[in-house]
Amino acid sequence: MVRAMTDLTPLKRAAAAKALEYVADGMKLGLGSGSTAELFVELLAPRVRGGQKLLCVPTSERTAALARKLGLTLAQLDDLAPLDLTVDGADEADRNLDLIKGGGGMLLREKIVATSSKKMIVIADESKLVPRLGKFPLPVEMVEFGHKSTAARLSGVFAALGYQNAAAVLRLKDGQTFKTDSGNVIYDCHLGAIQNAEQLGTAIHAGPGVVEHGLFVDRATTLLIAGPGEIEVIER
Ligand code: A5P
Repeated sequence: MVRAMTDLTPLKRAAAAKALEYVADGMKLGLGSGSTAELFVELLAPRVRGGQKLLCVPTSERTAALARKLGLTLAQLDDLAPLDLTVDGADEADRNLDLIKGGGGMLLREKIVATSSKKMIVIADESKLVPRLGKFPLPVEMVEFGHKSTAARLSGVFAALGYQNAAAVLRLKDGQTFKTDSGNVIYDCHLGAIQNAEQLGTAIHAGPGVVEHGLFVDRATTLLIAGPGEIEVIER
């Protein structure tokens, strides 16, 4: 409860500032989505005004709008890939550098951009570092057509893998079905502690309708976790 009432912005900003140390002139950068990634974009802007040549690929329309407003140079992923580095936030991270992402609904583009990057730095306040993934509901993006049937299949997958009492809940926004930048819907899957992220991710993908899930396994190369007065650097 105390955590929920704490303003984590200074910690998020500290993690974002630390990530700047990994950015060099001439880099091709992936820009993540979410409040922490947006702080990174804000801190990056003075570098560009100072003359650094950076080409950036945003992972959401929202990040694109912010980056454009701040004068960053944007480009298409397919014109730049592979990128040198992507800097993004996370909803949960563990010490194996496995992540849950997609709380903001941008997981598909985030995963495409991260996968097209040589390195992925994850920036987060210390509340995101968990001993085991799964307290945060896992977002699964699926095509709108037949989404209830796809979700029902997923429930069977979860039960077969031993996730008793799992619940897949259609994400709403302002009372309406939430739509991603790609026009898909999201189910937030309440699973509890995830035992084997790779196995779970494979099982979720093993049927039609699923576009992507928010498990990022073997993708992040560095975690920058900001606590009061210190930033923990966890490398792969
Ligand atoms: C966006 O879809 C997410 O993957 C974000 O990276 C994640 O939700 C972290 O957001 P915050 O930095 O706002 O916590």
